[in-house]
Amino acid sequence: MLTLDPELVGNQETFKYLLGGVSPRPIALVSTISELGVNNLSPFSFFNAFGSNPPVLAFSASRRGTNNTSKDTYENLISTKECVIHTVNYSMLEQMNLASSEFDSDIDEFVKSGFTPIASERVRPVRVKESPIHFECELMQMIELGGLPGSGNLAVCKVVNIHVSEDVLDGRGGVDPNKLDAIGRNGGAFYTRASGLALFEAQKPRGNGIGYEALPEFIKKSNVYTANNLGLFAMTEIIPSNQEVENFISRLKIKEASEETFYIYHRLGDYKNMFASALFLQSQSNEKSYYFFELTAMASLMARDLGFAWKVAIHSNSTRAIQK
Ligand SMILES: Cc1cc2nc3c(=O)[nH]c(=O)nc-3n(C[C@H](O)[C@H](O)[C@H](O)COP(=O)(O)O)c2cc1C
Repeated sequence: MLTLDPELVGNQETFKYLLGGVSPRPIALVSTISELGVNNLSPFSFFNAFGSNPPVLAFSASRRGTNNTSKDTYENLISTKECVIHTVNYSMLEQMNLASSEFDSDIDEFVKSGFTPIASERVRPVRVKESPIHFECELMQMIELGGLPGSGNLAVCKVVNIHVSEDVLDGRGGVDPNKLDAIGRNGGAFYTRASGLALFEAQKPRGNGIGYEALPEFIKKSNVYTANNLGLFAMTEIIPSNQEVENFISRLKIKEASEETFYIYHRLGDYKNMFASALFLQSQSNEKSYYFFELTAMASLMARDLGFAWKVAIHSNSTRAIQK
């Protein structure tokens, strides 16, 4: 591995690997107001949420790498103690990018970026109408992380009011990520668009699983299962016994099938019919039946039917052992 000591390689090199490695990062589009009443708007991807009671968001308006000066957002927060943090979606990309230009502090960046200002309810800085979610915030703490070019200034902000557009609601009391279509920042000039095929679900383990070290060798040594498959196998709380597996199989209806029908079920993710087909193929001494069982276990894992996956995997292993 490439190993770097930040103190030896310097800020520019460190910056590249920090941004490449910590990615994608959410983007806060931050609206502040200066003491003289000038609106400021800038994006920050050193940003996240840190608590919900009280609700806390934090971002870092770092010292400029070029001349070690502080950014307008930092100065405005120090003097007026308020901001509005906005979620950035794909349709806001280029205007958000425009707002990252280093305009002088007497320039209204709403005018420059073309975003529409609307009044906030609890703080003085205005909001960005085009953004689907707005967090009105009060500064809790500004933590200065060094006085050097590139040093961060962590603005820890308490959220005092939240506005969510109905357009992004999922109808179940939450936000629909596909409707939100948020973007994140990666390293270099790369961004991530968090919608469509980039989105997937992974439910949290319900209880404490058996753990990776408890996986039997026939699972760990498979040439078919992926690391994610092994993680899912390890999430199960109890491994079914051989007797349970036998009982389960004796109740199944085995359908006549061909390799072609197996693959049709595979494409459909229909792991129950995949298993019925694989059992038939096994009864016909099909030499690929172990492979079909493992594909079936994988498909059951993808459907989060861990019990089914274990039964298929155990059956596959025990019949292989008998044949040996
Ligand atoms: C997507 C994106 C993310 C950015 N993230 C940060 C960041 O986390 N911290 C930072 O200091 N600057 C960041 N910048 C650069 C600032 O937006 C830029 O320096 C801006 O001009 C600061 O404006 P201000 O002086 O009006 O506060 C980012 C720029 C873009 C386009």
